[in-house]
Amino acid sequence: MSGLIVVDTIAALRAQIRDWRQDGLRIAMVPTMGALHDGHISLVRIALEQAERCVVSIFVNPTQFAPTEDLDKYPRQLARDIERLQEAGAHLAFTPGVAEMYPDGFATKISVGGPAAGLETDFRPTFFDGVATVVAKLFLQAAPNCAVFGEKDYQQLCVVRQLCRDLNLPVEIIGAPTVRDSHGLAMSSRNAYLGEAELEVARKLNSVLRRTAAELAAGANETSATGDAAEALIRAGFRKVDYVAAREAGTLAPWRRDRDGRLLAAAWLGTTRLIDNVEIPGA
Ligand code: PAF
Repeated sequence: MSGLIVVDTIAALRAQIRDWRQDGLRIAMVPTMGALHDGHISLVRIALEQAERCVVSIFVNPTQFAPTEDLDKYPRQLARDIERLQEAGAHLAFTPGVAEMYPDGFATKISVGGPAAGLETDFRPTFFDGVATVVAKLFLQAAPNCAVFGEKDYQQLCVVRQLCRDLNLPVEIIGAPTVRDSHGLAMSSRNAYLGEAELEVARKLNSVLRRTAAELAAGANETSATGDAAEALIRAGFRKVDYVAAREAGTLAPWRRDRDGRLLAAAWLGTTRLIDNVEIPGA
């Protein structure tokens, strides 16, 4: 077990980063909102393979929640998170409070276009502005060489890559495969909201997506296949489907059969919104 350093101020974070840089160490960052599960720990493991030091931020970022969303009830378990990071061998946990990240008078936001258009943005119009703003701040505070993001939040991964390209942020973005339970359910902090019966239904999301991606790859009509997938999710017990959509894998532009694609979905189980995505193999 390592000696994890825990800091909650930008000044203390920068002082430690400066020391590591002086020693010529490469730094990887894993930005999180805490409530760490095996998916997050897999990101830490990848970060440790990529760099000599791994910094994990834990910050439930208010600017990416709409007033109607679950900011207040979002799971918070800092003591447990710190234990898990220690076990995983991370080197530093950055756990700022809201006033440290957004002091009084804070008035800037970053708005990304391109891959941020559509999908999540159609239903959570301010979400990616909040994500891009906090990720840019974290990158400027920690100055990592690379950062690891899960493919589970596939659109977010594309948005962060676009953000770094457009703002010349010198951070290599590494996408990490989604960690799933033995039934295919993607690990998510929001799974904590689900009861046993809902978990059973939630597990259908991935199988419906995989089946639909295979149909698309085999030549199925996109509109009917994604429409059928949405109906299958409702039949399985989802309350509402926000979208099931095929996109080009790199840019999230409309899917073309001759390019690698991604099939993405968001659906509601009671009051919990789940997202997932799978690869559509190229023709
Ligand atoms: O994926 C998340 O947990 C968050 O969106 C992130 C990237 C930590 C920004 O708050």
